[in-house]
Amino acid sequence: MNELDTLVVSARQSFAQAQTPADLENVKALYMGKSGRITEMMKGMAALSVDEKKTLGAAINLAKQAIEGALIERRQGLQDAELQSQLKAEALDVTLPGRLRGQGGLHPVSITLERIEQIFGSMGFEVAQGPEIETDWFNFTALNTPEDHPARSMHDTFYVEGGYLLRTHTSPMQIRHAVQHVKRYRNQLDAGQGMPEIRVIAPGRTYRVDSDATHSPMFHQCEGLWIGENMSFKDLKFVFTDFCRTFFESDDLVLRFRPSFFPFTEPSAEIDIQFQAGPLAGRWLEVAGSGQVHPNVVRNMGLDPERFIGFAFGMGPDRLTMLRYGVNDLRLFFDGDIRFLSQFQ
Ligand code: DAH
Repeated sequence: MNELDTLVVSARQSFAQAQTPADLENVKALYMGKSGRITEMMKGMAALSVDEKKTLGAAINLAKQAIEGALIERRQGLQDAELQSQLKAEALDVTLPGRLRGQGGLHPVSITLERIEQIFGSMGFEVAQGPEIETDWFNFTALNTPEDHPARSMHDTFYVEGGYLLRTHTSPMQIRHAVQHVKRYRNQLDAGQGMPEIRVIAPGRTYRVDSDATHSPMFHQCEGLWIGENMSFKDLKFVFTDFCRTFFESDDLVLRFRPSFFPFTEPSAEIDIQFQAGPLAGRWLEVAGSGQVHPNVVRNMGLDPERFIGFAFGMGPDRLTMLRYGVNDLRLFFDGDIRFLSQFQ
């Protein structure tokens, strides 16, 4: 093998060893650069005769072309390899299942509130909403609970500047709704005529200074009010019994109206329920306060207590939710833990 052949072979080997385009360009300089081997050989021809220049020049040119060819081939090879590895790195498996968005759902207490609205709605009750920041008048005084009344001590709450407070129950909605209703029929009433019955429920958030496994500073209540002219306690009993049996989907559910005290009702009763089957069977469970609306409260609604009789009840949707699903810690509802909440979807 002559010197030129050896040079071509060694160039091919060096190119093959270059692993990156930059390496390759450095190696190329060793052969084709300003002081590369081929260039050196061309310079060395200066002293030769014309004939020698012709033959050697032609041979060097051939070797140069061979080296250039090898260089181009290796360049392409490195480019292809780079493209391949890039494609591999960016590979996209279009057959993989897509990432699904988590599906939202209703909070268990919201499910209960919707259920309550639906059941009472089917019995002709409207749904009313009212402010959570209340005045002393609606929250207490109008409900026959004047300042210094001992019943207020059980309703400690957050007081807001300007005489407002976070409502401690939904009962203020009795007054707010009844006053609106009565206003609408004032002329009719003054003319000695009647008015359509008031039948309303008022669900919403309520607040008290209270916090343990069964009490939360924010909790829900749902108020009910039914006012008409020829009513008696049996109407309340019937409606509430029907509600509980429908809500818990249990026809043999038993109710007990246990005498109690609330300033805004007289007489008053605590409503207890008893399941006949299931894990809670046989126990009396308190679910609501109730009673006949106190004459002072009926007056504050703008009605004559000699003529209009009303029944009211207030229940705890949080507690109803706990009973329905067998949850024993109220705080779980308000921790916002998805693992707990997603079980109700
Ligand atoms: N507001 C009462 C409470 O939070 C519950 C209640 C009792 C509401 C009797 C009523 C009722 O409407 O008649 O403790």
